[in-house]
Amino acid sequence: EKGGYDHFMLKEIFEQPQTIFDSLRGRLDAKAGKLTLGGLREHTDLLKEANRIIIVACGTSWHAGLVAEYMIEELCRIPVEVEYASEFRYRNPVVGKGDVIIAVSQSGETADTLVAMESAKEKGAIILGVCNVVGSSIARLSHAGVYTHAGPEIGVASTKAFTAQLAVLALIGLKVAVEKGTITEQRFQHLLDELEDVSDKVAIALELNEQVKKIADKYKDARDFLYLGRGYNFPVALEGALKLKEISYIHAEGYPAAEMKHGPIALVDENLPVVFVATKDSYYEKIVSNIQEIKARKGMVIAITTEGDQIIPGMADDVIVVPEADELVAPIISVIPLQLLAYHIGVLKGLDVDKPRNLAKSVTVE
Ligand code: F6R
Repeated sequence: EKGGYDHFMLKEIFEQPQTIFDSLRGRLDAKAGKLTLGGLREHTDLLKEANRIIIVACGTSWHAGLVAEYMIEELCRIPVEVEYASEFRYRNPVVGKGDVIIAVSQSGETADTLVAMESAKEKGAIILGVCNVVGSSIARLSHAGVYTHAGPEIGVASTKAFTAQLAVLALIGLKVAVEKGTITEQRFQHLLDELEDVSDKVAIALELNEQVKKIADKYKDARDFLYLGRGYNFPVALEGALKLKEISYIHAEGYPAAEMKHGPIALVDENLPVVFVATKDSYYEKIVSNIQEIKARKGMVIAITTEGDQIIPGMADDVIVVPEADELVAPIISVIPLQLLAYHIGVLKGLDVDKPRNLAKSVTVE
């Protein structure tokens, strides 16, 4: 049942080229320049006219929501807020007609997310679900939605559900943008092509497995880790830190790289590994100077970079090179080595990576 892999987590990490493909299949037709999202039906219009989109989710799904904030604001020019479902539901939020809620959930059963959508629905908001489990409570409560097709996720830590969420949220953003006319035809076609290619690039990133395992061995005894990224890669840094915490029980924090100097930089010394998600994008030069700031304080830098990068390899202690992609789809690729890093550190420490202590696969209590 683990398909020859030692753990479900590794199997599910390696399934990603397929599960991303499955989540795009029948929806994305790059050759014809077309995008079909049957699940949205008449709600595409409501999304197009939304005053505001509020994404509610927890944990890894919340990180996918953060990436979607960057995507949707850029593509659709609609203001997006991303809320922890647990906070949103309890604070009597200002929400109502004209607002569209997107609930993102692998299991479709997360209690906080479910209740957050219920109360927004009562107040007149339109609810869309991005769920992995067909017929789940969140899917049933939604007015409409788009399923991720990641297949059953057994490992408690979410991996393939996350990349499927990113793929589907990109499709939603693109669909609304093209209907709304907030994207040029050229950029639309370019992003369709990029999404079409992303599964193959994820497969290439998975070939880094052995290299990442060696890096895991080198850093497995660290007490703390810092993960930094900017722009589309900032939520990837948060996700990398969450995976490491869950799977290896090493304390890790993710930050937007520029926030470092407002506090976390005080932690940096020769014992602190700092993982930079530093692929080639519009933030590249800024993140290069953030890496310099860490090296100047003797931190150990592990950098996720893009093929052909001439600068970062000369600065970092360890470099993990992933295929180049448009910054909007880059998180689908740059998260892969971070999933592998957490996995290998957990395994090297002899931990139960499929069932980390204190965690449940679906959190149906508040
Ligand atoms: C992290 C993880 C959790 C879930 C969170 C939300 O690896 O699995 O943080 O992402 O509990 O769960 P869903 O997506 O089922 O609502």
